[in-house]
Amino acid sequence: MKIILFPLMSKDPGRILIFDTTLRDGEQSPGASLNLEEKLAIAHQLARLGVDVIEAGFPFASPGDFKAVNKIANAVGKENGPIICGLARASKGDIKACYEAVSPAPKKRIHTFIATSDIHLKHKLKKSRKDVLQIVPEMVNYAKSLVDDVEFSCEDASRSDPDFLYEVIQLAISAGATTINIPDTVGFTTPSEFGKLIADINKNVPNIEEAVISVHGHNDLGLAVANFLESVKNGARQLECTINGIGERAGNASLEELVMALHVRKSFFNSFFKRNPDSPTPLTAIRTEEITKTSRLVSNLTGMTVQPNKAIVGANAFAHESGIHQDGVLKNRLTYEIIDAKTVGLSDNKISLGKLSGRSAVRARLEEMGYDLSREDLNDAFARFKDLADRKREITDRDLEAIVSEQVQLPEAKFQLSLIQVSCGNASKPTATISLLNTEDNTEDTAVSIGTGPVDAVCEALNKLAKVPNELIEFSVKSVTEGIDALGEVTIRIRRDNKIYSGHSADTDVVVAAANAYVNALNRLVFSEKKNSIHPQFDNLENSDNSFLSNPAN
Ligand code: KIV
Ligand code: ZN
Repeated sequence: MKIILFPLMSKDPGRILIFDTTLRDGEQSPGASLNLEEKLAIAHQLARLGVDVIEAGFPFASPGDFKAVNKIANAVGKENGPIICGLARASKGDIKACYEAVSPAPKKRIHTFIATSDIHLKHKLKKSRKDVLQIVPEMVNYAKSLVDDVEFSCEDASRSDPDFLYEVIQLAISAGATTINIPDTVGFTTPSEFGKLIADINKNVPNIEEAVISVHGHNDLGLAVANFLESVKNGARQLECTINGIGERAGNASLEELVMALHVRKSFFNSFFKRNPDSPTPLTAIRTEEITKTSRLVSNLTGMTVQPNKAIVGANAFAHESGIHQDGVLKNRLTYEIIDAKTVGLSDNKISLGKLSGRSAVRARLEEMGYDLSREDLNDAFARFKDLADRKREITDRDLEAIVSEQVQLPEAKFQLSLIQVSCGNASKPTATISLLNTEDNTEDTAVSIGTGPVDAVCEALNKLAKVPNELIEFSVKSVTEGIDALGEVTIRIRRDNKIYSGHSADTDVVVAAANAYVNALNRLVFSEKKNSIHPQFDNLENSDNSFLSNPAN
């Protein structure tokens, strides 16, 4: 008699779980730091998008990071909403902070990690493999004593010795981990190698069927999405990704690309889920119509602009420029189009409101667009709308998005622009007069500067007033919509001590937008220096001062 041995398979939820790490790994992108209100706005939108897990941050990093995760757990965590997760290094201080931060959420997860590659052990952690084999069960066990849902990651898994990896994973599962995450931390692997690694983990870890296999990967070689899709074919069932693919260095695997690949090529992937190829059941729980709005919100708030040719969310992703393509698309859109733009929520940017529209019309449109603003926020948004309507004939959905995202940037701002006046032209030296309010001591000062152009003059004057030395490294302008009266969107990036901070603003006057974007970047710089966060991956485990936890003021 022939005995057929079926390979062990990790827990299979029957579809792909989307774990969004925009607010943790995404926020680790140079220049992408977010304030509390911004994180909250993104978390609400991620819940609307339908992600399964929101990794809301690294609570141990600083009191500000702790508070943001805690607020998201409180406001966004719901019984029928996403799991709220926090990151913790494999140390008691981190795990405790993480538990306290996520505890208000009905569905909460602690995600703890330690590096497993020899290169990380030797140079970063200065620990032996034996140390890791002792730390992992101890820390996973501790996390499990606090919550049921524990995820464990083997940092730099793709460069780790596979036999050591299997041993660590087995111990983590025995200690209570219910999700095992396999990161390609430095974006080094290739699709066939990564697929094989996932298949080998399924074959060689004796208790693997007790956990869901997750993958996390960076895009250093532009392979993150391809690697993930190969891992799905081999049994990975949770994908860790970010909106617009933002994240450390070249970023993380992009959520919208993964979700749309699984959506458009469902019949190809169905067979890996033991489904009939024609099964119409979606492979993820994502509401794809929310993708474009989520992408714009993240781009506006992080100042990380999306390249025009970026798949799914780039400005050109659905534009058919060439005559041949346009002709084909008009005859039958399937000739050159694999996704209907409406599937990702790209409407025809319909004209919604004008100068005479009232408060309730603005509120109704914002609600239709998914923005549920408080009374005060709505008042502010309406004042901004009126101001814009005086200068711009028609207000589109994109204009409203720009208004709302600008508003959430304001809290926690040290500086506010109170006056800007600029003169320039071919017969005069560009001169800017700026008044800046310092909200910390409630003082207002004015400075005048001459520059090589109006924007340079504005930045000079702002630097005189703010007295925060920095280097301007990027200035870009693009229009939000078409037409001569369109809002101009300015993104500015500044650098200090090798750290980058970005600022973003939109106005019909691009010089005013530039001034506000610069002020926004300065505010982020000041806020981030005050916050003084620990980096979860660069600071080693010994850095475990969590004294802020016992301070009720935090
Ligand atoms: O890239 C990585 O390895 C990570 C881990 C902390 C999951 O971000
Ligand atoms: Zn990462």
